[in-house]
This record gives sequence, C-alpha cells and structure tokens, in this order.
Amino acid sequence: MWHDNILDTIGNTPMVKLNRITSRLKGTILAKIETTNPGNSIKDRMAVKMIEDAEAAGLLKPGGTIIEGTSGNTGMGLAMAAVIKGYRCIFTTTDKQSKEKIDALRAFGAEVIVCPTNVDPEDPRSYYSVSSRLEREIPNSWKANQYDNLSNTRAHYEQTGPEIWEQTEGKVTHLVAGVGTGGTISGAGKYLKEKNPDILIWGIDSYGSVFKKYKETGIFDKNEIYPYITEGIGEDFLPKNVAFEVIDHFEKVTDKDAALMTRDLARKEGIFAGNSAGAAVAGLLQLGDRLRDDSVVVVILHDHGSRYMGKMYNEDWLRERGFLEDEKLTAQTILKKRGDVPLIMADAEQSVIETFNSMKTLNISQIPVTQQGMIIGKVTESDILNALLDNPSLKSAGVMEICTPPFPFVDLRTSIDKISSLIHKDNQAVLVEDEYGKITIITQYDIINAISG
Ligand SMILES: Cc1ncc(COP(=O)(O)O)c(C=O)c1O
Repeated sequence: MWHDNILDTIGNTPMVKLNRITSRLKGTILAKIETTNPGNSIKDRMAVKMIEDAEAAGLLKPGGTIIEGTSGNTGMGLAMAAVIKGYRCIFTTTDKQSKEKIDALRAFGAEVIVCPTNVDPEDPRSYYSVSSRLEREIPNSWKANQYDNLSNTRAHYEQTGPEIWEQTEGKVTHLVAGVGTGGTISGAGKYLKEKNPDILIWGIDSYGSVFKKYKETGIFDKNEIYPYITEGIGEDFLPKNVAFEVIDHFEKVTDKDAALMTRDLARKEGIFAGNSAGAAVAGLLQLGDRLRDDSVVVVILHDHGSRYMGKMYNEDWLRERGFLEDEKLTAQTILKKRGDVPLIMADAEQSVIETFNSMKTLNISQIPVTQQGMIIGKVTESDILNALLDNPSLKSAGVMEICTPPFPFVDLRTSIDKISSLIHKDNQAVLVEDEYGKITIITQYDIINAISG
C-alpha cells in the first residue's frame, strides 16, 4: 500500500493518553499528536484545504503564486502543497519566530520575508500589511489569509473533529486547544458540539492577547495587547476563524508556564511537541478542578518540538528569561560557592617580566590585560614562557606585545555546561560581569571545585 504523494499522508494522527503530567487530574486526558503530519503540524490540514478551495473557486490558477503571512507551520503546509501542485510561495513572517521555522520554509523552496513583531497590524511594515501589498503587486497571486479564510475552520470541521469523535468513540467531554487563527478550535469544536452539545470547548490564550477579554466582555481592549513569547497562540486582532460562540471558555497561560510545560511533555511523557502544546496542557492543569472522573479530555498538540530547539528546549534560553529555577550550576552559583576573589589584571604597558613576577607572587596562571580600563587580551604563564624562549629581549616589552585574545564573557545565568564548553587548552577561563557591573573570573579550577563541592 502506498500514497500517491506526501499530501495523502496528512491527518489520521494518533491520540495518546497523558499519564504523569496530568496525574493529579480527574478523568482521562488524551493528547492528539499532530506532529505526525508530514509538515510536523496540524496546519498541513488547513493549508491543503485552503488551496483546494481556492482552486475550486478559480482564485488560484496553474503557475500562480501563494502569498501568506505565517508563523511557520501554515507556511510549511502551504509550501509542501505548492511543491506537489506546482505553485510559487512567498511568506511574510515576524522576527519573533524561531529561526528553525523560517529555515524549514526555505527548505521547501519558499521565499520568506521577515517583518518586525512589535508594530500594529495596520502598520505598513507588519507582516499582514506586507503580504497584502505583495498580493496586489504580483500578478496571478493569491493570499491564503489563514486568519479570515473559513476553509481553515472547514478543514478541522471535516477532519480533526470527526477524528476526535471516532478515536474517543463519542466519549469526548472536553476539547482543549491553543487559539491562533481559531481554525482548529472552531472547526473541531463546531463538529463535536453538533455531535454532542454538552462537550465543552476550552481555548488556550496567551497574556498579551485580546481573545479572553473579548469573549468575556465583548470589548476589544487594546490595553490587553503587549509583546509575549509564546508562539502560535493569541492575537492582537479578531480573526474571522475564531468562532467565539463555539468556545466556552478562554484560559490564559504565562510564557513561563507554557515554556516549562513544553519541556515537561518531552521529559515526563516522551512527547516532543511545540510551545502551544505546552500552553494547552498548562492551561488544562489550571482548569483541572472543573474535571470529573468520567471526563474525557482531548488536548491538541499542534506542532513538533524540533522547531523550538533554540528556545524552550535550550536551558540557557530558559534561564536568560528567568524561566528556570535553577537545578543546574550557573556562573552565579559557581561564584557563590567560591566566594569573592578580586580580579587581578595587568596593564598593557606593564612589562612582561613584571607581569610574570606578580602572577608568581599571587599564584595565578592567567591574567586579563587592560588598556585604559578596557579588557584587550590575556596572558598565561605558558604564553610568557614561550615568548621569552623565542626572544629573551621581550622581557622588558609591554605585556600587550604578547597577549592573546581576551577571555570570553558570560552572564550570571550561563550554565556550567556552556561555561565548560568555552574552556579549553587555549582559553582556560571566562569572565563574568555581575549585576553591579563588577567583573570577575571563573577558571577551570573554580568549575571543578563547584562540581565536587
Ligand atoms: C504552533 C501553533 N500552535 C497553535 C496554533 C493555533 O491554531 P489555530 O490557528 O488553528 O487556532 C498555531 C497556528 O497559528 C500554531 O502554529
């Protein structure tokens, strides 16, 4: 048995019970794992549906160009379908998106234009505006417009909803999904409510997005809008695909909780999913006391973890944002264990032999070199020895003559793993600037002490 092309493999994604993360919840919690779609996200479904509906309506003609403002996943589905169907693709996206997502679009031969995140949607620089301008300017082009194109919702009404109904044998009581364009929750939610009006549909929103307040008050409040980190969910406008009447409740999740839960999905359930999957599960945990023993909850895991390697799956990234309460040693904890040691530096004009003598007296084997208060390099005992063996007259030369590039700087939150990777034969220490701007040094010796202590 084979498929005619890759697009035929979209859908029929597995449903997997969550066990450890949700152990304190009543009921059965099932994750719909959309990462097994060929583009590794749920968006393959609606991308193909939007294209096929546009073809049928005569909006997209052979040899045409598909244009879209996309955060990556929809682009991936569109780009994949465009390869099979022979269209050109141009995408606009924002500088908030992971580099991995943008590179993946380019892998399919799509052109990608990166636009600023923190501008109004109406601003001519926004990724919405740029894609609309391209559509006006490029002949035989069609803008998919995933936000307002209702083929998006229809894809989930026709596929995702029925799959959930069948996989749970009609027992589903709750659907939980991150809301971006709204297509997933509105389409699948509408289908499920038609099957059983008692099914509750919970949308997961982010802080910085307008959805929750709009649902609860009918007010579109611009004060709700501010930049946030979570990818794929929440918006600063109201897409036509968000069917507010289908969604019973919106739950907001913080960037930190979404990021940490994304990581926990891999660590505790072995499921390698993206940021909005973490947000959805974190949101469900917040709503946990609304569940009963006979609840059957389906949570949508929209996309794959590989697109977030530089983000939620990177401990330094988490730490830099203060998301990780430290289990691992960092520059800060290494320094705390060692105590305060004044940083000795050599002035660039100081002679080689003077520098060597003070290093000997102070029992240090490497020293940063400064010029007018700026660190310009370093010397080690062996640099001095080698230089003097080569040319004994260098003894009275300024130490800057023989210094090598400075020790790299790290910040207080940098992990011991990262620091260790910076320390090797030619670089035996790193420099750290503390919160008061004071510079200190961490040597290999300090790291060994911290690990063994
Ligand atoms: C990673 C991710 N999660 C969630 C969503 C939200 O899905 P929908 O647009 O169907 O509301 C998207 C889509 O924008 C997404 O890319």
